[in-house]
Formats: sequence, C-alpha cells, structure tokens
Amino acid sequence: MKSLSLILIIVLMNILHSCQNNSASSGSNQSPYAKQVDSLLSIMTLEEKVGQMNQYSGFWEVTGPAPEEGSAAIRYEQLRKGLIGSMLNVTGVENVKALQKIAVEETRLGIPLIIGYDVIHGYKTMAPIPLAESASWDLEAIKKSAEVAAAEAAAAGINWTFAPMVDISRDARWGRVMEGAGEDPYLGSLIAKARVAGFQGTDLKAPHTIAATAKHFAGYGFAEAGRDYNTVDVGTSTLYNQVFPPFKAATDAGVKTFMNAFNVLNGVPATGNTFLQRDILKGKWNFNGLVVSDWGSIKEMIPHGYAKDGEQAAELAVKAGSDMDMESSLYVEHLATLVKEGKVDEALIDDAVKRILTLKYELGLFDNPYLYCDELREKEVIGKPAFHEAVLDMAKKSIVLLKNEKQLLPLNKKGLKIALLGQLAADKDSPLGSWRALAAPNSAVSVQEGLEKYPDNDLLFEQGVRLTDGSPSFLQEVQINTTDRSGFEAAKNIAKQAEVVIIVLGEHAFQSGEARSRTEIGLPGLQQEFLEEIYKINPNIVLVLMNGRPLAIEWAAEKIPAIVEAWQLGTQSGNAIAQVLYGDYNPSGKLTMTFPRNVGQIPIYYNHKNTGRPVLPDNKQIFWSHYIDATNSPLFPFGYGLSYTSFEYKNLQLSKNGFSKDGSIEVSVEVTNTGYLLGKETVQLYLHDLYASVSRPVKELKGFEQIDLQPGETRKVTFILNEESIGFFDNEGNWKVESGEFKVFVGGNSVNNLESVFFYEE
Ligand code: BGC
Repeated sequence: MKSLSLILIIVLMNILHSCQNNSASSGSNQSPYAKQVDSLLSIMTLEEKVGQMNQYSGFWEVTGPAPEEGSAAIRYEQLRKGLIGSMLNVTGVENVKALQKIAVEETRLGIPLIIGYDVIHGYKTMAPIPLAESASWDLEAIKKSAEVAAAEAAAAGINWTFAPMVDISRDARWGRVMEGAGEDPYLGSLIAKARVAGFQGTDLKAPHTIAATAKHFAGYGFAEAGRDYNTVDVGTSTLYNQVFPPFKAATDAGVKTFMNAFNVLNGVPATGNTFLQRDILKGKWNFNGLVVSDWGSIKEMIPHGYAKDGEQAAELAVKAGSDMDMESSLYVEHLATLVKEGKVDEALIDDAVKRILTLKYELGLFDNPYLYCDELREKEVIGKPAFHEAVLDMAKKSIVLLKNEKQLLPLNKKGLKIALLGQLAADKDSPLGSWRALAAPNSAVSVQEGLEKYPDNDLLFEQGVRLTDGSPSFLQEVQINTTDRSGFEAAKNIAKQAEVVIIVLGEHAFQSGEARSRTEIGLPGLQQEFLEEIYKINPNIVLVLMNGRPLAIEWAAEKIPAIVEAWQLGTQSGNAIAQVLYGDYNPSGKLTMTFPRNVGQIPIYYNHKNTGRPVLPDNKQIFWSHYIDATNSPLFPFGYGLSYTSFEYKNLQLSKNGFSKDGSIEVSVEVTNTGYLLGKETVQLYLHDLYASVSRPVKELKGFEQIDLQPGETRKVTFILNEESIGFFDNEGNWKVESGEFKVFVGGNSVNNLESVFFYEE
C-alpha cells in the first residue's frame, strides 16, 4: 500500500515545480517537466526505476510469441510492486481503468501506466492500410486519418500508438510493406510527419491525441529475401540516404517515441545497437523521447548470437540505448543486479526512466491518470459518422487505376448487366487489413454491398473461386484453396450473360502484414486460373485488386482491359470502390511502391543506381546489366496511376541555367486536363545528380504538387529547388552539396517525364 505521506510529497513537489517551470521552460530544449521528473526519480528505489522500464502485454492479447503460461499472476504481483511502467494490448476504458487503478492506488509511488497499442490505421473505424494511404500522396488526408485513429483509441483508454511504421522497403515479398509508405524516402518523410502530427496533434494532453512511435529503427524493411525478421545488411549510402530520412523526419515532427527492430543491422541487432540508438538517434538527432524495444527483441539477441544469456542481453540493450523492454522480462529480472554489480551505470537507468516519466507527464497522466478513461466519451466518440466520412475520403484517394482500355471505366449507372465474381467481392473482413486493432470482424462494406447502392444496373454475383479454406485469423497461417474449382461453372454462366465482369481478386487480409512474407507474389491459389477461364468467356473484365503488397500480375496487365488497385481500404472499402467504378470519384492515386513483373526482379525500385553498364535504347550487346529472360522495367512504376481524364505536360522551364551557394532555381511546367472530366493530378519532380563523390540514383523524387483541373484547364506548377534538394549524405553520414550537373524531370510518374538540365556551383 502506498503511504499517504509519499503521495503528499509527490503532489507538493509537482505543485512547486510546475510554478518554477512556468517561468523557466520557454525557449529551452529541456523538457518543462525536468524538475518534476528529477524529484520523482530521487525518491525511487532502483527496483522501481527498473520497473518503469518494463512493459508487458495485457492479460493476454498477444501480438508476438506468447509469454509463458501461468505468468499472469506473477505479472499482477509485479504491477502491485510498481515493477511495470507500461502495458500494451489492453483496450477499452473498463480494462485500462482497472489496471491503472492498481498502478495508481496500490503501488508505493502511484506512478500511472502508459497504455500502448498498435493503432496502425484505425482503432474501430478502419482507414485503408498505410501503403494504400500513401498512394493518395495527400498529406492532409493522411494526417486526418491518423487523427481519427488517435481520437478513437484515446477514447478507449489508449495513450500511445506503435505507429507510424516508417521503414522504407523495396521488397514486396515482405508482408509488412502494407504498413509503410512505400519505397521513397522523400515521400516517406512527408508522410511520417503527417502521421506523427495526426496522432499527436498540438497538445498531447488533449483527450483525443496519443503519443506516436517511429518504428522500426532501423533497416527492418531490408530483410534479406523479404523474409520477416531476417538478417539485414545495408551499406552506409543506403542507410543514410534511404533508411534514415523518414526517421529523422519523425524526430523533426516531434515524435515522442521510437521502437527499435528485430533485425541485425550489419551484424549488430538493432536492439543492442549503440550506433543507431545512441550515436545517431539520441546523439546526432538529439532525440529526447523514449526508445521501446520491439516485442521480445531484447531476448532475441540470444538466438541472434549476440548475447550469451538474458543477463547479458539486458546489459547490452540498456547500454545501447533501449529504454523500455517490451515483453522480454529481462530488464525487470536483471537490471537492478547489473547495476549493483557495477556492470551497468545507474546513470543509464536514470536517463531511461527520465524519458519514460517525461512522457507520462506530457500525456497528462500525472494530472489525471484516468484522463483517457471516460466511459461516456468512449461511447460517444468511437464510430462517429464524421470518422466514417474521413476514412471513406481516404479510401477513395488511395485507389490507383492501373489500366483502363476501351474506356471500360467508369461504368454506366443504368441498364448494364454486371457479373461480380470472386470471394473477395463479398468479403467484409479482408478489407479491414491485418493490423485491424479492435475493428469488429466482418465490419467492412464489401464490394458487393457498395455496388448494390447503384440499383439501376443488373448485378449478378457468384463467388466462383474461393481464396481461402476456413476463416483465417491474425494468429494463424492462411490456408489457401488450391483444389476447389466447384464454383467455376456458375461463375462462367453469369459471365456469359453479362456486359461487364467485375472480378475481385488478390490476397486475404492475413496474407500480408507481420510474419506474412511470400515467395510468389502473383494471385494466390486458383485465382489466376479462374481469371484466365473467365477471360475466355468474356474479356470485358474489370479486375479489382485487393491486396497488401505490390502483386506480380504480368498476364493480367497485358490481357485485362481495366485494372483497379484497391488494396485493403478499411471499413468503407466497398463504398469507395463502387464510387470509383461508377465515376463518382475520379481515381487519383499513384503507386508508392514499384510493381515487379515477377519475383526475380525484386528488389526493384525506381531510385536505383545507374551501374557502369546501364541499358541504352539501341544496345544490342550482351554485356550490360540486364536479365536474359525479362526486361529491367517494372510492370507499373513508382508514381504511376491513371485517371478517367488525361493530362498533358508541356513547357518545362527553368528560371536560369543554374544556381550557386545559398541560391535556388525555379522549375515550372504547364499541365493541361485534355480529357472530359474533372481530375486530380499529382505533378512529380525528380532529380538526377549526374556525378558526385558517392554515385547518386538515376532519379530521386524532390517535389510534388496535387492539382485539380477542369476539362480543358491548364495550370502552371512551379517548384523551387535549392541546396536541400540537391544535397546527399556521404558514407560517413555528412551532408554534402557538391558542384555539378543535374537533370530535372517533371511528369505524372517516375518514367514519362519532360526533362532539362541545370548546374550548381559551390
Ligand atoms: C511488431 C511491432 C508491434 C509490436 C507490438 C511486434 O511484433 O514488430 O511493430 O508494435 O509487436 O504489438
């Protein structure tokens, strides 16, 4: 039982220090809570300090290997002793309140818990998966989507999300590409900032905001062969110029926490990596927040072959800068002893605990531990109609039109006989994605339901092909149907009668996401065979793809006249898809990850290096960098996406032929809507630094602007380039701006561009 006198001391210290801080905090880099934190720290025992660094999963929802059976009782006891600083996977006001009550009323010091959860793209009202959202290139909409997620989660007792995932990835085999913003560090950085701003808002104590996490620091998206948790070897040029920028952007946006990663980076586990966590993050970037380990990643340093046992793992992790142990129990078991034996300096513990306590102050938990625990608010806020509108808007903007021949789309709203096929067409669950937090199972609007809202057409539905056997869950492997063709005939029958066939194919929600790597990334199971069978009967096909990663669909890209990339779009999925198919929303999404022709091309990404033997248009020789069985080109490139209207780019102009130190140059282009519908275009600017002390990518995104154009309307778009645009990090991590020649490209994707050249003189 906490003694009354101690409570009084803490309360008094807090009052005293908040008075002092009001006058001292402005303009200083130091936290306004530094004094309160120091005072509290000064009365904590070593064990209590270490307890703050311990995080457990709720009793027992798991998002990783489960803790030992029977440990719940032990953990409750630890909670009462003040040996837990944070819990994850506890949701709902009632549950959170119950645990918070123990922390606040039964421990000696009454320090409240931080409650973390993977609120990745929604809590109950699901937005599209993050990869889909990134395809909108709409930073405001993305921010709004994070705001919705934060508001619902905060109303349910949560005050910390383990998002955004800002890992750059070039490998569509890796299941977690669904959780990121694609392959580009420039766009990825802007999206990281937008998501952090959306989750955290401008006042972390507000009951609709939560702390965000930039994860997984670092290199996790470069897992060898796209296999989750696998080894990562990344060279310094890629590390500094591709992997780090979105993390740096998140720190610049004020992200409160970082999560490290499961992988080794160049031989050293990220969790035990001093270079990453101390030198770069807390050193060079001056990050003042806390670093949480990934689930059990401290313990995983043993199988990594880096720590000999749990005690050494704890020592290595804390020395390397991991402040909180998620689900390894190793800090709580070993850190106090390590300090007492002189193996770990208590100053390291103090630094970690200060970061944790500071966040608790910033979240307002010391003012009111139940700030996020209001039953009435929980009822009122979750599922608000405005949230549904926001995720619908986000879903429409996330859709990418990949192909539209014979103007098959948009569909006429009257008098059309449509055959709708595919298990995913009626699926109300897969659109929720694999990180679906507390979304109710089967709570998404299906494509079928969306299309039924257009009643003047004749809509016939047959599943035709089954994707999965059984109903997969987050904790199971998905069983793909590879034998059952019993639905083919009925599907063919309705396809025969229809003018247009809409086939919804792709992946089940739990075929992408964590631990869902694939070696083949075509259409799983019998779906490809089914598509080809239907094509023989009626080639007027609109293929709607529902998936969590780029798919290699070369056959479909060649044969099928219309293809719509609809990802996993969340709760409002079917409504968004129907509105796009019927032209009530003119698609505007652009890919943020390259679609390969086949798995062998992976890793494939637009911002690659030139090589010494690049392909030349007239090159007929054998000795150049290529494959003998496929082209180098992707199926669909980065930045690509069509509209129901068309855009023409002309008059690329530069304000001068170059610029020098501290200067800039203007690049402008005229874009005309040459079609018959209002449309949104994302005008993209890329650069190529032709020669530098470290060779630079053939193209790098350095600017974009979204414009809405009426039919026939022309708009001039102007970009300003400066040293920030042309600089890069050398292999020691130093920012360089070097004299030289630069190509500038502007267009509607990363391939078809107008181009020009300018110079820079130091
Ligand atoms: C994932 C993290 C996640 C954590 C907690 C881990 O398996 O890698 O991204 O935040 O679990 O659920």
